[in-house]
Amino acid sequence: MRKIDIFDTTLRDGEQSAGINLNTAEKIEIARQLERFGVTIIESGFPAASPGDFDAVQRIAGTVKNSIVTGLARSVESDIATAWEALKGSEQPHVHIFLATSPIHMEHKLMKTPEQVVETAVASVKYAKQFFPLVQWSAEDASRSEPEFLARIIREVIKAGATTINLPDTVGYATPQEYGALFRYITENVVGIENVKLSAHCHNDLGMATANTLAAIENGATQIEGTINGIGERAGNVALEEIAVALHIRKQVYSVETDIHLKEIKRTSQLVSQLTGSIIQPNKAVVGKNAFAHESGIHQDGMLKNPLTYEIITPELIGDAKTELVLGKHSGRHAFKDRALKMGFELSEEKLKKAFVEFKKLADRKKVIVEEDLLVLLTDQQIND
Ligand code: KIV
Ligand code: ZN
Repeated sequence: MRKIDIFDTTLRDGEQSAGINLNTAEKIEIARQLERFGVTIIESGFPAASPGDFDAVQRIAGTVKNSIVTGLARSVESDIATAWEALKGSEQPHVHIFLATSPIHMEHKLMKTPEQVVETAVASVKYAKQFFPLVQWSAEDASRSEPEFLARIIREVIKAGATTINLPDTVGYATPQEYGALFRYITENVVGIENVKLSAHCHNDLGMATANTLAAIENGATQIEGTINGIGERAGNVALEEIAVALHIRKQVYSVETDIHLKEIKRTSQLVSQLTGSIIQPNKAVVGKNAFAHESGIHQDGMLKNPLTYEIITPELIGDAKTELVLGKHSGRHAFKDRALKMGFELSEEKLKKAFVEFKKLADRKKVIVEEDLLVLLTDQQIND
């Protein structure tokens, strides 16, 4: 099985979410949990961005031993030198340098010609290689770049010493077909690409980050980047828990493995949500409150007969509590009887029928039926018999 490295950027791209600001202690706590979760690389911050970020990166670099720790740097010597100061204490010093390669970014943001962009990229990688054995180079806005230009600049930065090439879908614009084709094109047109890691980095502006990341894996990516709960700039980054579970559940399709410990998913997700203050939407795939909740009678009946009818992921797989059969107005008699039995009420068929009628009336009035509601209702039936 092909190995896929998991690059976590919760503490860098994730922290770039509007309204999120983590202090050093919080970042260290998350980094430790990411290490337990089994990520290959932790992007712990952007050392040149602020003294606080520098401090957090330096402390994480000195604390984490089982994951590689990296920091972001623009393609300027001062950023790279600052990153080195922050990261030189880590086990395997790694830096992540980026430079935009799309026509719109080169002309309107960098105000450089493509020739100047190649020169800057090569110079920054050569400079970084004086310090760092591991240098990741990212072509910002790769998905809107000219593939021929991208192939050319990648060849040059590999010659300069880059050990990982990242092709971000910076603005979440690519479709899975396009993003997959970009990876195929680069693997087929860059000599030496097989000697470096090839990374995918997807944003979720059109809700396609998970599909795009999986398309990159199918087309040669050996590393994928994302965040816990999918936090990040604008609509966020790809949610790592979704990728980890998809690769596990659909092993026959992707034929790859990672070092992720799936049982740590729930704990990691909750810690990130709690410390960032970023609430997880109830229907969020894998970690949402409703991800394992079944309300409709037909689904509940199927679940009680065989959970495989409606559950492709078990909560236990991700370290979560048991599946919940939520009782509401769509629920059926089977789930109602099951719950009554679990609560210790062995009612006759007649009583159960009456109790179920009362339950349906209540469910029409009340949005959420709690255990106490059922207790009152079932006790009433028991006594009134
Ligand atoms: O989305 C992006 O392009 C980035 C780069 C810094 C890699 O986050
Ligand atoms: Zn990004």
